[in-house]
Formats: sequence, C-alpha cells, structure tokens
Amino acid sequence: KNIALVAGGYSGEYVISVQSAVTIENNLDSSKYNVYKIVITRESWSHTGADGVVTEVDKNDFSLTIHGNKITFDAVFIGIHGTPGEDGRLQGYFEMLGIPFTSCGMVTSAVTFNKSYCNKVVEALQVVNVSKSVHIFREQPYNTADILQQLRLPVFVKPAEGGSSIGMSKVKTAEELQPAIDKAFNEDSQVLIEEFIKGRELTIGLFRSKGAITVLPITEVVSSKEFFDYEAKYTPGVSNEITPAPVSDDITRKVQETATVLYNKLNCKGIVRADFIYEEATGKLFFLEINTMPGQSENSLVPQQVRAAGKTLQEFYGLLLEESMQ
Ligand code: DAL
Ligand code: MG
Repeated sequence: KNIALVAGGYSGEYVISVQSAVTIENNLDSSKYNVYKIVITRESWSHTGADGVVTEVDKNDFSLTIHGNKITFDAVFIGIHGTPGEDGRLQGYFEMLGIPFTSCGMVTSAVTFNKSYCNKVVEALQVVNVSKSVHIFREQPYNTADILQQLRLPVFVKPAEGGSSIGMSKVKTAEELQPAIDKAFNEDSQVLIEEFIKGRELTIGLFRSKGAITVLPITEVVSSKEFFDYEAKYTPGVSNEITPAPVSDDITRKVQETATVLYNKLNCKGIVRADFIYEEATGKLFFLEINTMPGQSENSLVPQQVRAAGKTLQEFYGLLLEESMQ
C-alpha cells in the first residue's frame, strides 16, 4: 500500500513534527507499506526521493508524479502538530478528496485544537472539572483588571491555538499578566487565561482499533521547572516522566474512564492524548487538554506509553494505519 507520511506544518511545532515523522517512518513496516514522506510548509508540499529528486504534490488529488509515474495514496499518516495538520485544515482537505487519514476528523480536530472552545465543550459534557478561564481576542477590547476580578492567581496564559507550551506563561502577580498576554498574542490572535490548578499532572494516550478503545498506561509528569514548558517537554532529564503513573487504582480508573468518555463524546479517531490535573487536596480531576496529534518523537509521552504497554511502535503505528482504512 502507498502511504503518505506528512510532516512539517506552519507553526512553531515544525521541528517537533519532523522528529515525530522520523519515529513514525522508522517504525512503519516497510514490508507492508511504501512510505512517501511529504513535508508541508507554506512554500511547498514536497517529497524528496532517496535519489535527491524533489517532487511537488499535485494538490488537486494529493498525488506525486515521480520519474513519470503517478503515485496516489491509500492512506495518509498525519504527523503535523499545530496548523494545518492538527486543527482540521488538512483533515477537511483529505475528507473532500476521500483519502483515509490517521487522525480525528475535521470538526473534532478544529474544536479540540482551540483550547478555549474545547474547555467549553468538555465542561458541557459534565464528566470532569474544567478550571475557570477567560478567552480574549486581539481585535476585541479587554481589561486586565476585569480578568483579575474573574480569575484567582496564579493563572496560565496560553495562545488558544498552540502547542508544546510555545508562547505560554504562568502568571503569579497582577503585573505579570499584560506581558504574558502580549507574549501569547505574538503566537496567536486568541488567548486563553485560566486558573492554575495545583496538583499532579497525569496524561493518557488512547486509540480505537478493531472496534475497541485501547487505553495506554498513564504517565505522571513531574517537572523540575515551574511548569511542563517547551524545554521540559523536549530536553531529556528536565522533567521526570513516570509510566505507569504511581497513582491509586481508583485514580487510574477515573482517568481511564474520563478519557474514554471524552474520546467517544468528542468523536475522536486515531491516537489522542488527554491531559489532566489531579488535585490531591480535593480529590478532583481537572481537564487540561486533548491533543489530537500527540508528539511521537523519541522523548514524547505516547511512545513511552506504547512501550510501557508492551507493544512495539511498529505494531502501534500499523494498528493506527489499518484502522484509518476501515
Ligand atoms: N503538541 C505536542 C506535540 C503534544 O501534544 O505532544
Ligand atoms: Mg497540547
């Protein structure tokens, strides 16, 4: 089967996407799949052959013509974090072309990618706590004093449509709020400001295959930094990631059940990673976010969870591809 593995993208997560694509490509069974890596940037959508020949994708049907041979694809393995691979844009394009792909569909990708809209939808499902937040837009007036009346410090300030903690800050004092908002607006035209929940950070990958959902072991992230920022996420040793998380059976069940309900109710497909904060003082579980394109670099959480589940990455990526073609 011909498989396109798409990598790159337009956001600051380009570098992570390229790393994810390396792991995916190295672990796709080459006896079953002819894999063509296609790097998508604003300038080009191109494939570079082993002979160094660069071919541009024909966007009318997402095909490649290499040395006169036209190649069409049985499925696309999307490995782009951020826009346009995680926010529904490519999903909508492939849906229109009728080419199967490995992630959530257009609507689920778009809704979950915006952290503020996702919070609102998840809150309405009433299966997990969602911390209080304010959503502001660059073109619309806002007032930091009003925000500080509505929310209790510390708060997190995040680009609403971002990833890998790029442009994100933890704000502890009123004076820090405006600079943090400005920083987030450098990345995105919408910003989410949400109350910080003190607790243990738990994250769980899950995917559907052959009619059943598999939940991977939970990871607890213990960051030595103020929060699990870009450096902590991608520099080995800066954070301690413990899989399976050393939490009680009750908490494990609660996280697994909550993630499964969210997966179903949000109509997810493929591998999704749900992040939570467990507030020990109250025993409450808080929703942080759903990642519909979780990182697959060697240091990323999902590959750790797959290995901890006793599966190989080759089995795992094979299951995701086969499921997309059902
Ligand atoms: N946004 C990064 C890639 C993640 O969620 O793993
Ligand atoms: Mg994320």
